[in-house]
Amino acid sequence: MNVYDAVASRRSVREFLDRPVPPDAIRRVLQTALRAPSGGNLQPWHLHVVGGERLDALKALMRTRVQETPGGEGSEYDIYPRELVAPYRDRRFAVGEAMYARLGIPREDKAARLKWFARNFQFFDAPLALFCTVDRRMGPPQWSDLGMMLQNVMLLLRAEGLDSCPQECWAIYPQTIGKFIDLPPERMLFTGMAIGYANRDKPLDTLVTERAPLDDVAEFIGI
Ligand SMILES: Cc1cc2nc3c(=O)[nH]c(=O)nc-3n(C[C@H](O)[C@H](O)[C@H](O)COP(=O)(O)O)c2cc1C
Repeated sequence: MNVYDAVASRRSVREFLDRPVPPDAIRRVLQTALRAPSGGNLQPWHLHVVGGERLDALKALMRTRVQETPGGEGSEYDIYPRELVAPYRDRRFAVGEAMYARLGIPREDKAARLKWFARNFQFFDAPLALFCTVDRRMGPPQWSDLGMMLQNVMLLLRAEGLDSCPQECWAIYPQTIGKFIDLPPERMLFTGMAIGYANRDKPLDTLVTERAPLDDVAEFIGI
């Protein structure tokens, strides 16, 4: 698979097959993803891969936690800016609407939307999970390095025929996850990621999210 195909075929997948991810494939992906650049070569990422019985245990734990504390424990960073203005707010709204339309869940059906949202905390039934954590002393430049690393992971997964969904919603359960992965106090949870084989027969599989036109977001100076 060439890089263009990997980028074009990567999508956030939220419906997975019940088919295990070969352990050697995930090791290969992560080993290669480590080639991501980072300012000063700090390599500020820490990855935690969870599968097998430990993942079953985490999913069971989260069923309880989501019932007990549906709004989460309070995230340690702002997932979105407190004031999300246009055009960002509109884009967020549009992707939500497109997704719920595919699922046949109307806007007024808050209970059904919440129920769907809670599927995040089962990793959308994916057979493998990943968390990315970062030293609290790192700032925005290092957080952007995390993104480069995670994009490497998601593109390399495509080369293995695998799919993923990055999930920063996990940041609303920092205590539960911190304890589960035995996170040292100097580190914080950035995001989770569901990993597995996409179920191509599900309605969400046809969802291709929109992007702003290139000339709205890029300026070409001198060319
Ligand atoms: C850092 C990050 C966190 C995200 N968190 C979530 C999440 O918690 N739950 C979810 O369903 N999607 C999540 N997404 C997926 C975005 O909604 C998705 O990337 C966006 O709508 C564009 O769609 P695409 O990935 O299919 O191209 C996240 C994406 C990123 C990059």
